Amino acid sequence: MLPARRQQYLDAIGIELFVRRTPAQAVQAPTFAAVEPASVPAAAASVPEAAVEEGQVAAQWQRLLDEVRGCRLCPLHATRTQGVLGVGPKRSDWLVIGEAPGAEEDRRGEPFVGAAGQLLDAMLRAIGLDRRTNVYIANVLKSRPPNNRDPRPEEVEACLPYLVRQIRLLQPKIMLAVGRIAAQNLLGTDAPLSRLRGRVHHFGEQQTPLVVTYHPAYLLRTPADKRKAWEDLKFARSVYQQLTQGATDGNRS
Ligand code: URA
Repeated sequence: MLPARRQQYLDAIGIELFVRRTPAQAVQAPTFAAVEPASVPAAAASVPEAAVEEGQVAAQWQRLLDEVRGCRLCPLHATRTQGVLGVGPKRSDWLVIGEAPGAEEDRRGEPFVGAAGQLLDAMLRAIGLDRRTNVYIANVLKSRPPNNRDPRPEEVEACLPYLVRQIRLLQPKIMLAVGRIAAQNLLGTDAPLSRLRGRVHHFGEQQTPLVVTYHPAYLLRTPADKRKAWEDLKFARSVYQQLTQGATDGNRS
């Protein structure tokens, strides 16, 4: 990334200095992995296996999208405009997870498109990520809680299986939980955010490495903590680099 462009993103998240410690990461698309046993119809026997597999994965994404859009598993369906599945390339190494759609997200059907989303985009761009090319963004809840209240445990319980299916399809190499609500619900803890930041957790059946940082909406209210968020982002980037280069000890240096 051009230095001027990077500085622009850092300015947007309120960081004045940028000191590169390691070479810039190259975020590469992973090869697609199978998520369910394949049953190949006789007529498709001559179709290359990878193409069949890719078609099956695409069909599963579509099924998931349809289910989320039509979901009535919790009472939020009565007040939302639409279910919001996620955004980004479906081969992204990075998965960012927030809390739930807000008013703008509920209206437009895409996560993090309001003011907090603009800050999130700037934060991600500062570490070379962009929802159009190499990061997938989703929420714990797919439906907006009225007045942006905190998700209720029964809503999270109903909705989390959608995220688990998303992760199975996406197979991210690293997850970034933004905010206390996302972090606590993903990690099944009520520990404060301050205790969850700065180390590598693991999530789900694949034990995907997961790093925690502040929610951009919180950072808009508390700009003094942007510097700590920048530390978290650099930490997440270094974890990713180590994961893709070799082993990580999981601790901030
Ligand atoms: N806050 C979130 O946690 N998610 C969104 O999609 C928007 C705001």
